[in-house]
Amino acid sequence: MANMTLKEWVQKLDDAGLLNRITDETRVDELPQIMEDNPSQAVLVENVKDCQVPFLSNAYATEEMFTLALGCTAEELPAEIARRKKAPRDTVTVQTSPLKDNVITGDDLDLAMLPWFCHHEHDGHAFINDCNVVSRNLGTGLLDTGEYRLQWRKRNETGISLSNPSRNTRLNIQAYVDAGREMPVACVIGGTPHLKLSQMYTVEGYDDWQVLGGLLGEPVELVKCETNDLMVPASADIVLEGRMMVSEGPVHDEGPYGEYMVTYGGGLQHMWRIVWDCITHRNGAIYEYASIAGLHPGRSDMVDMTFTLAADIYDALKSAAIDVVDLYLPPDAVSQIAYLKIRPHRAGDANNALALMLTCSRQMVPKIAYVFDDDVDIRDPGDVSWAFGLRFNPEQGTLILPRQNVNFLDPSLTTSEPPFFISKIGFDCTKPTVGDLSRFDRAVVVPPAVVPDDLTILDTDQLTDALEKFIRQAPRAWREVVAEFAGHPYPALYHAFGRLRDRLGRREEDSPTFPYRFIDTGSE
Ligand SMILES: Cc1cc2nc3c(=O)[nH]c(=O)nc-3n(C[C@H](O)[C@H](O)[C@H](O)COP(=O)(O)O)c2cc1C
Repeated sequence: MANMTLKEWVQKLDDAGLLNRITDETRVDELPQIMEDNPSQAVLVENVKDCQVPFLSNAYATEEMFTLALGCTAEELPAEIARRKKAPRDTVTVQTSPLKDNVITGDDLDLAMLPWFCHHEHDGHAFINDCNVVSRNLGTGLLDTGEYRLQWRKRNETGISLSNPSRNTRLNIQAYVDAGREMPVACVIGGTPHLKLSQMYTVEGYDDWQVLGGLLGEPVELVKCETNDLMVPASADIVLEGRMMVSEGPVHDEGPYGEYMVTYGGGLQHMWRIVWDCITHRNGAIYEYASIAGLHPGRSDMVDMTFTLAADIYDALKSAAIDVVDLYLPPDAVSQIAYLKIRPHRAGDANNALALMLTCSRQMVPKIAYVFDDDVDIRDPGDVSWAFGLRFNPEQGTLILPRQNVNFLDPSLTTSEPPFFISKIGFDCTKPTVGDLSRFDRAVVVPPAVVPDDLTILDTDQLTDALEKFIRQAPRAWREVVAEFAGHPYPALYHAFGRLRDRLGRREEDSPTFPYRFIDTGSE
């Protein structure tokens, strides 16, 4: 069965009302504002001036798009991604595919066929940013993919943003340097949200296309590149094939660019150069670009990082037998903040959970974690503020982990030179697990009482007798009285109560409702 194409994904977005199709001729310099103006919708610009392909962006920018792709609810996303990433599928090789409709090499090859534009004010140059870069691990032979933006150099050359030393692609480079060979690479441009998720993962013993199969729930069909032995999805729209000039080392200036943290990251950097030898693309190919930074970082094509991080955390918590009720990473915090809702069963559950949340992911985030009880809606900022303000005890509830790995893009780092590390902090906002916890009860509003259909209205004398009988049966909280006598005129009920009031008392030990009881005879 052929895998979903980008065109099919666009159709799915359209059917779900999540696509803004723009048919007017549009200049490349207009594209950043179009992305900014459509944070909750994908944009398909069908006619880009001077450009050979339509432009698609924001096509995996919201939680709704990921739930659409995976067929689950927002609450189920972390568990669903965690489950699928652990079920890699063998791949299938096909001899050819529509990806080979056009094979462009030599002097015909010109990267300017794609739309290039200046995205952020301080960007060093234009870049393409939905580039799933494929390389081979020379040791295991397995293929790896990672999304890396590629900055324009010339018609057949780009740079690559590979600043993080723990990225697999960067680790693969060293083996080629040692072997004295340039590193063959392929760049799969665009794809369905499943690809964005799979490229974030490393599953030991499997290549990333097998992991993609797990995410898709079906084997991925692969086709060989024209100019090297790398394999790419047959469903792809556009693939670049080239060589990373690893022998030259990271010497070419690169960046800065607006980053997913909505800053300019490491400023001017020095990276490798890639020479592109071949472009293959299907007829009618769509060029996909990942929106990044701007005014809506939580609704840009970088949010897949948040969802894969949530799945990592979910997995770690489950391994530690934490009773997870919900896990939510507010997208605008760009993976730096995580909220967890649990049912604590042991006194250390909340603190254990915080330590795991802060340390378990290879993406080295989040920096800040919170744990709440299961009566808190962690997707409601108001409820989160309330519970943090009221249930958090700074002295007992703060966990600080010093000298932790950190994404060096974090602008709160105080050094621009290695070693990079940072303190991480966790806030335990759960109630204690023992003792009288009634002080934490929420004062919630009483719902309207249910009035019986056959109610006979009593006068004050009759109500006094009935109320006395009711309280003598058992001590009664005021709410129980109101419910029992629902529908009677409230002045009569309040006057009846007033007649009995001097003979009624309450005991401190009857927390939390302190019911009324008769103090002349007792009413037990
Ligand atoms: C749209 C998108 C663009 C990204 N661009 C970069 C980038 O330019 N540089 C980088 O170091 N990481 C970038 N990332 C994060 C990496 O893709 C991510 O860490 C991935 O796991 C790396 O894969 P690898 O370790 O298999 O090489 C990007 C992620 C996304 C979703």
